[in-house]
Amino acid sequence: MARLLIKKGADTEVAMTANATRFITPLTFQALTGRPVSCRSFDSSDEDVMAHISLAARTEALVIVPATANIIAKMAMGIADDFLTTLCLAVTSPKIVCPAMNVRMFQNPVVQENLRRLQGFGAIVVMPGCGDLACGETGPGRLAELPEIIEAIKSALTVKSLAGKKVLVSAGPTREMIDPVRFISNRSTGKMGFAMAAEAHRRGARVFLVSGPVTTPRPMGVTVVEVTTAVEMRQAVLDLAQDADVVVKAAAVSDYAPAEQYAQKVKKGLDEETLRLIKNPDILAELGRHKGRRLLVGFAAETEDLLAHAREKMINKNLDLIVANDVSRPGAGFAVDTNIVKLLYPSGRIDDIPLKSKEEVARDIWDRIVELPAPRGPIQ
Ligand code: CTP
Repeated sequence: MARLLIKKGADTEVAMTANATRFITPLTFQALTGRPVSCRSFDSSDEDVMAHISLAARTEALVIVPATANIIAKMAMGIADDFLTTLCLAVTSPKIVCPAMNVRMFQNPVVQENLRRLQGFGAIVVMPGCGDLACGETGPGRLAELPEIIEAIKSALTVKSLAGKKVLVSAGPTREMIDPVRFISNRSTGKMGFAMAAEAHRRGARVFLVSGPVTTPRPMGVTVVEVTTAVEMRQAVLDLAQDADVVVKAAAVSDYAPAEQYAQKVKKGLDEETLRLIKNPDILAELGRHKGRRLLVGFAAETEDLLAHAREKMINKNLDLIVANDVSRPGAGFAVDTNIVKLLYPSGRIDDIPLKSKEEVARDIWDRIVELPAPRGPIQ
């Protein structure tokens, strides 16, 4: 956990209980974090006798991982009999508690009551997973997976700028079948759209993600609707868009589908064959024609004349914002974890977002979306 936090750029300090030091030495954490490890209150060798207060003041998130039944009980009751529990009382920033213990201990009503009490005080509890426990038993009690804990920390540190809003994101490619084994598609992996959905969830929105076939891990806390073809995507998007406040269309929709779909695998025949295609519905353009009070955000994937093409799409599809993406640039576009984009507004304003991770780009885009003026006009 400490290593992962450091890798993610978090300034990480470790405080340990006396029992924790019997499992792993403070020196290990000191070597990992490059910071002193706090274990005892009022340590006479420590220059800073009020270390728990100064550490509490600079703590932006306090993560108890793993949280034993003992520390959960102490935190729930406000007991402060060592460095860590004293720190817990002095910290005012978000507390993330990640229980891990024997299944019968976890299910004990007093532990459950203490967890509820902690939640009542505003702590975030990352529930343990089910599985084989260190004690040899099976059931709930195993520490949550680290990515889930990281997500809980990110969420706790995010201002809830989309609280009460419904957000719909579409992502990934569509797949247009030619026969049972062949299809037309594109290189989209859904990463940018998934990052948009994850960030909207962190900001407190109810998030629905309509996704084409991808292997990208699903964002946590988001309702995912899986589709294959553009026609299926249209139906899912139009249904979910009804009462959405913001629709973000990051999907790479196939513009065309085969005119015929063969029930059996097509056999090879002539030296030259022609595949007849018919146009798919333009989902975003359709939303733009019946805009109502929704904010509409589109993406434009281009390989040339980025700004001109993106502006044209923004106007034709009646969008509030378009994210222009030159997919031919290294570090941008399909299947990479970074992106470089320009944001175009109907007013003519253009914002440049330089090379960053897709997660950071998603944050920047949402910072802009939440400031957009609400669209006028009747709900349709
Ligand atoms: N889009 C859509 N339905 C389609 C095609 C595109 O909803 N049938 C949406 C995409 O999700 C994206 C925006 O429209 O938000 C622009 O998609 P893009 O593929 O860049 O442009 P197209 O409109 O398809 O135009 P072209 O392929 O000619 O560049």
